[in-house]
Amino acid sequence: MLRTALLTAAGSPACRSLVERSPLTRPVVRRFVAGAGVDDAITVTRELAGSGRLVTLDHLGEDTTDAAMAAATVKAYVELLALLADSGLADRAEVSVKLSAVGQRLPDGDRVALDNARRICEAAAAAGTTVTLDMEDHTTTDATLGVLRELRADFPWVGAVLQAYLKRTEQDCRDLAYPGSRVRLCKGAYSEPPSVAYPDKSEVDRSYVRCLRVLMAGEGYPMVATHDPRMIAIAAELGKDRPGWEYQMLYGIRDAEQRRLAGGGRMRVYVPYGDEWYGYFMRRLAERPANLAFFLRALLTG
Ligand code: FDA
Repeated sequence: MLRTALLTAAGSPACRSLVERSPLTRPVVRRFVAGAGVDDAITVTRELAGSGRLVTLDHLGEDTTDAAMAAATVKAYVELLALLADSGLADRAEVSVKLSAVGQRLPDGDRVALDNARRICEAAAAAGTTVTLDMEDHTTTDATLGVLRELRADFPWVGAVLQAYLKRTEQDCRDLAYPGSRVRLCKGAYSEPPSVAYPDKSEVDRSYVRCLRVLMAGEGYPMVATHDPRMIAIAAELGKDRPGWEYQMLYGIRDAEQRRLAGGGRMRVYVPYGDEWYGYFMRRLAERPANLAFFLRALLTG
């Protein structure tokens, strides 16, 4: 119930302006977001790389309403990728892209998003790194997988995210478990109807394990994106004799566990940066009462 309320607030312009304008929000946001500028992104990447962690960088933004905003997002990624290459970090860091940020919701959005994502892939190829497409709400799943297919024809290393809370995902895992296919498996962070998604957490967890089995038995490159100790242990068991897979967690969450897993050489951190942090931040609050308590405590104590 609280989760649904927070996810609804994530889409509300009134809540957005309230939360964004509060001077007390920013220090809390900094726990989950590297900072506003590309320099912050590079600094945090360097720090994480220094402790043996790999990184995927997300230029925040998901409410792109015109072509100019989409073009600005592409420009931000191209600049970031050039900086990663210049700083010698391109072998430690890739980028994650939300298709809504590069125009998926505009008229003729699938074509616009494909063209823009292609430009980001070209910049990633020039920098010597990779791109993973984030997955948003279920109304975009087919379109996002369509863009993935097109991009992979030219850039076979483009990764995809699949969400275990969707009932379709076990089959999507089967379809994408082919050689070279990078698949980031997460539980899913949006408010979805029971017609398409498992409503119970225990069902989502069971689906996650089924999907993990499919990916680990397949020939692709599984990216196990979770903070859940049980899923981490199951992945360790399923993947113990398997080369080519990694754990992934979000920046600011379970830092000690991230460092421990980095010791095994397969830990990547998802690092968001930029001004458009509202939707991302609200989804983190919705995920976990402790995150919300941390936020409320900071607001109350200033
Ligand atoms: P869950 O939230 O069920 O937590 C399970 C357990 O993990 C908890 O009981 C606790 O033990 C531990 N835990 C979780 N958070 C903790 C914390 N803050 N501190 C301590 N312990 C904690 N979603 C999406 O819809 N589309 C996407 O593209 C992505 N992309 C993405 C990339 C990466 C790299 C990650 C890690 C996650 C995403 N997500 C996502 C978000 C994802 O769907 C999901 O909402 C969160 O990862 C939370 O789910 P968990 O698997 O961590 O389990």
